[in-house]
Amino acid sequence: VSSAPLPLDVAAALGDEFDYVAPPAQLERAEFLARASSADALITLLTEPVDSEVFDACPGLKIVANCAVGFDNVDVAEATRRGVIVTNTPGVLTDATADFAFALLLGAARRLVEGDRMVRGGDWTGWKPTELLGATVSGQTLGIVGMGRIGRAVARRAAGFGMRVIYAGRSGSTGKDDSDGAQAVDLDGLLAQADFVSIHCPLTPETHHLIDGSALAAMKPSAVLVNTARGPIVDEAALVAALAEGEIAAAGLDVFEAEPQVHPGLRASDRVVLAPHAGSATTVTRGLMATMCTDAIKAVMGGRRPSHVVNPEVYA
Ligand code: GLV
Repeated sequence: VSSAPLPLDVAAALGDEFDYVAPPAQLERAEFLARASSADALITLLTEPVDSEVFDACPGLKIVANCAVGFDNVDVAEATRRGVIVTNTPGVLTDATADFAFALLLGAARRLVEGDRMVRGGDWTGWKPTELLGATVSGQTLGIVGMGRIGRAVARRAAGFGMRVIYAGRSGSTGKDDSDGAQAVDLDGLLAQADFVSIHCPLTPETHHLIDGSALAAMKPSAVLVNTARGPIVDEAALVAALAEGEIAAAGLDVFEAEPQVHPGLRASDRVVLAPHAGSATTVTRGLMATMCTDAIKAVMGGRRPSHVVNPEVYA
């Protein structure tokens, strides 16, 4: 059972031993729970809370294949307690998401969407030396919060723009240059030095509102914030205030605290580029993510261990 149609012929990918009926559209919760009740395997989306309600509704469940690299929507401890394997889709979306983070960085710095609106709205009256002046990207300092697969892929792109890259990661190690020449700093140092701050850590209790009012106040007034990770890592109300008060210059956001709701202060701000959680949205990447889910399900149902288990304790 999947909670929404996927960009893959799931029935064909699973093969004849599986009974899969594609949902006609993204399912309402009650419909999803009803369909899931006899399932051995679920393909779930990041928008789907996978919690006790799901596990209670689905007593024969063996695997939750979450069609995302992030799995903050899944109660992993509860899955483990019930012996349900949880998998995610790392790797295949790294470059797509890093590309998108860079698109937001460039778009916010160079006021791309404001310019589009101006041209489209018929408000452009001709080239002016003072029009739509934005921020320089090349040669500036990029601060990466969370140096995992996607953070490192963003750092590689930044190298092409001649940027200096600093990062704050989970390990807490500072001062050492990693192999790509990026320098580890603590979060305070990163916020103080970075011209661009791009977030690439997972959402956990520790990273919830990691970028709060005081973090925003610690950034340069000229700084640009980019978030392609998870909305609740940033305190959205504090971001609206920081933009209004000129504590930072601009933001490029692909994720929001209460998707699909977006804070009205962000929607009203010209200095924010907004995207609909589309970081991994290329045809190829989304197809590969769905295929990773069907591969994981085939592995589990065939008695094999899938490649990307987020709760390996379940095998203990
Ligand atoms: C998308 O946000 C993902 O986690 O894959």
